[in-house]
Amino acid sequence: MSGMPSTRPAVAVAGAGLRGTAYARRMRESGRGRVVAVAEPDPGRRARFAAEHGIPPELAFAGWREMAAAGRVADGVVIATQDAEHAEPAIAFAGLGCHLLLEKPMATGEADAVRVLEAVERAGVMLAVCHVLRYTPYTRALRELVRAGRIGAPISVQHLEPVGWWHHAHSYVRGNWRREDESGPMLMTKSCHDVDWLVHVMGEVPARVGSFGRLTHFRPENRPAGAADRCTGCAVEPDCPYSATRLYLGCLGDPEREEWPLGAVTRDRTEDGVLRALREGPYGRCVYACDNDVVDHQVVSMEFPSGATASFTMTAFSPFAQRQTRIFGSAGCVEGDGVRLLVRDFVTGEVETIEPGGGREAPDGRHAAADDALADAFAEALASGDPSALGSDGRQSLASHRVVWAAERARHAGTVVDLTPPPAKGTAIP
Ligand SMILES: NC(=O)c1ccc[n+]([C@@H]2O[C@H](COP(=O)([O-])OP(=O)(O)OC[C@H]3O[C@@H](n4cnc5c(N)ncnc54)[C@H](O)[C@@H]3O)[C@@H](O)[C@H]2O)c1
Repeated sequence: MSGMPSTRPAVAVAGAGLRGTAYARRMRESGRGRVVAVAEPDPGRRARFAAEHGIPPELAFAGWREMAAAGRVADGVVIATQDAEHAEPAIAFAGLGCHLLLEKPMATGEADAVRVLEAVERAGVMLAVCHVLRYTPYTRALRELVRAGRIGAPISVQHLEPVGWWHHAHSYVRGNWRREDESGPMLMTKSCHDVDWLVHVMGEVPARVGSFGRLTHFRPENRPAGAADRCTGCAVEPDCPYSATRLYLGCLGDPEREEWPLGAVTRDRTEDGVLRALREGPYGRCVYACDNDVVDHQVVSMEFPSGATASFTMTAFSPFAQRQTRIFGSAGCVEGDGVRLLVRDFVTGEVETIEPGGGREAPDGRHAAADDALADAFAEALASGDPSALGSDGRQSLASHRVVWAAERARHAGTVVDLTPPPAKGTAIP
């Protein structure tokens, strides 16, 4: 990435929640972009966001539709609304000639994702879907060494996404991504990152996929005897791994954890405020008495056109940690823990350790450095008009999203799914 661009592009944000706020803050703090407009229905969030960025009232909108109705208010729009509201704003803002930084998923269904790609290509605007993992030095180093043939031909891949027991309870049992009908299957809401990353690192899109997985544990029949509907006042809470009171009260005093996960629960950072939110809101519910239906573990098997295979496991029942990957090649293998790469050469038997760095990459699996790098890349692409700073384009995102949808079809049907070629013109290149 080059240095600071000479012009500072204007950026608008649709959805001033956790993600929209983080990208916008990075643009302001890095000085790479000017955040000139916001669309956010929550008046408190909207006011805080507008104050942080000095946005005048006429450019602080109650929703993305109102912002779109005002015309092209910025060079680029960050779309960080919830999953079900990605496709429509993306199509609307592309139609206005705005470049897009679009949170994943592109859309909750394949037909809408195709419509997004078509709108973007028709308008000739840039689209970066927030595949944040593509932006880490770790990913770049791994991809480069595979491409350079350091391990010969990559033949087998083992990839693990350890979601983490409390993170799973927070997001996928009590929180925003707990129900397929409200957001999507967990393979999309969580692991589209992993599938996209595997496609990116392997340099090819799988030709066939199979998948197993289900909601095994977070079900009413596993509710311990004596458990209450909420953690506050529950007799068995002290011994429960999924205690909401332990999780959220434990965030108080730690600015990062107050931001997330506590920020999704309440903005009141006092003990009383947290307990009130747990008594009244969704995050205080017993994990065995929620309305969740997404899986808590899943495996996906992939076969690539080259004949290489990959197995991917996503599980709730782990520490909250970085993804772990092993790629076995014809001349060597590489093992990565999200921070460090160990490359073994089959000729010499020697192992080289590569530590690509990555600034704020936290050891517990969060990807702040990648988020920053993505915001920087988008601002750079806006300033230069050159999409090469971006880690992916719309076709690549559609190609990896299609693998996710195919895996879900395979899981539901108990079969292997052949991936048909992407419907858009040409061939998607990972
Ligand atoms: N790339 C990643 O690693 C990553 C990580 C977490 C979440 N996400 C995705 O980012 C998106 C946002 O997640 P979040 O955690 O920031 O959610 P959030 O709920 O904190 O933020 C969403 C915001 O959109 C606002 N909103 C609702 N309707 C709107 C409308 N009509 N116009 C404008 N704003 C509207 C909400 O009020 C809310 O403030 C989701 O799609 C999620 O899947 C991506």
